[in-house]
Amino acid sequence: MNGGYKYFCFEGPDYSGKSLLLSLVYERLDSLYIPLLKTKEPGSPYSPVCVRIRDLLQNVEINDEVVYAGLFDLDRRIHLREVVSPALETNKIVLSDRCIISSMCYQEKQVDQLRCENLDLFKSLKPFIFLVYADKDKLFSRSSLKQLCTFEVNIFNKRVDAILEKYNRIIDTFNCLIIDNSKDGDLESNVSLICGTILKLSGITEGD
Ligand code: TMP
Repeated sequence: MNGGYKYFCFEGPDYSGKSLLLSLVYERLDSLYIPLLKTKEPGSPYSPVCVRIRDLLQNVEINDEVVYAGLFDLDRRIHLREVVSPALETNKIVLSDRCIISSMCYQEKQVDQLRCENLDLFKSLKPFIFLVYADKDKLFSRSSLKQLCTFEVNIFNKRVDAILEKYNRIIDTFNCLIIDNSKDGDLESNVSLICGTILKLSGITEGD
């Protein structure tokens, strides 16, 4: 196995289908006996502290936006240092569901020092991003939003627009491949495209 990229992050708005795509990519690469680590932000299962932070984010009402944003970055600091870096050092391919790009697109606020140090560490790990998107109609139908009242739909609508706009704005600053996952029928070809890209960029040839 040559050098190259080993840290692959799957990014994109909620309901773009990135987590399913990541799981299928994992299964296919695993069947080729490639050493892999599948992880996520927030709440990597490989860190009890990250699991606790995810639990806080999901189950405790946090009204302070700085604290809320800080929790994602605290989770990330631990994740990058204690899960991602050691896995890369042992030559594993890391597949991560979300990374710092989510904070950059979802959170208005940040704790500056945490965010800056995380960004430096993240970039030093040579990440490659798969930005998974789907058109807005698809995001809506996948989220079953039709059951929500108009007011809630409007809030979601505004937020999706803001989040999509941020992804568009910052994604060029990262090494990235954009994956259109709007059509359910494209799932298999997207899995093949992503696996092929990972094999090529990581320098792995099948049978290594
Ligand atoms: P997920 O694990 O099911 O993708 O859910 C994570 C949610 O948290 C998703 O709505 C995106 C959001 N999120 C942020 O707001 N900021 C972050 O930094 C990350 C990693 C996720």
